[in-house]
Amino acid sequence: MAKHKLVTAERAVDVDLDQLSGHSSQLPKIDYSQTRKVSLDAAHLTRHRVLNNSSNPRVLAAYKLLRTQILQKLSNNGWNSVGVVSARRNEGKTLTAINLSMSIARDYNHTALLVDFDLSDPSIGTFIGLEAEQGVDDYLAGRCDLAAALINPEHERFVVLPARKAVMDASEILASPATRALVAELRARYADRVIVFDLPPILEMDEALAFSPYVDAILIVVEERRTTKEDMQRLEHILQHKPVLGTVLNKSVT
Ligand SMILES: Nc1ncnc2c1ncn2[C@@H]1O[C@H](COP(=O)(O)OP(=O)(O)OP(=O)(O)O)[C@@H](O)[C@H]1O
Ligand SMILES: [Mg+2]
Repeated sequence: MAKHKLVTAERAVDVDLDQLSGHSSQLPKIDYSQTRKVSLDAAHLTRHRVLNNSSNPRVLAAYKLLRTQILQKLSNNGWNSVGVVSARRNEGKTLTAINLSMSIARDYNHTALLVDFDLSDPSIGTFIGLEAEQGVDDYLAGRCDLAAALINPEHERFVVLPARKAVMDASEILASPATRALVAELRARYADRVIVFDLPPILEMDEALAFSPYVDAILIVVEERRTTKEDMQRLEHILQHKPVLGTVLNKSVT
């Protein structure tokens, strides 16, 4: 088992990655050149601890290390999708999902698609300072087509599918045939890129568990001094049949 220490702007992050085996898939390449391009405000990103050109080099390096390990695991197994989960709310899933996918997109050999599937409490837009005109919630409700909801924030290798508005029936939506079809479509359309799904907490609602079959593997975010041993055991038990890429120990002070 590899053990690495990552350091964010304020807090340290430890990463443990387990060796895994898996399957491989080859899907067709589809052009996404119609995706809407938007600019992000660096000061806003910095305030929200999101990677940008003025990020602390140690923070950039820390996420690069996480990125490289994740990419190696995905590549070794022929996978291209990751669900970012944690036991409870507020442990750092969204920030990890954003910075991981941004870091992947900064690698010249890779592209990343970040999807907000925390449908009852979407927050990627707030983190990156983006008010989506259409979101994955609109697409799943049949109010827009997929191309209208996809956003390309500055970096050509980074695409975001935000959720615009919290929905009441997130659990039913995530388990629906429409969501299954969307994920199949994204994985086919984006066969050459890594898809990172920001998900709700596993132990507080059933959505992430219901969604887990649709991703190749998961990345678990743990908050130091907050995530309890009992919660970790429950989470590991619930996800025992799902490949785990690793555990990010977030908000660590060591
Ligand atoms: N490493 C870190 N250092 C400092 N603050 C952090 C760190 N990671 C996350 N935070 C802060 O903790 C809060 C929760 O983070 P985030 O929204 O990413 O968690 P989450 O697990 O996605 O929460 P939710 O379950 O509500 O979606 C945010 O205010 C975020 O800025
Ligand atoms: Mg979140």
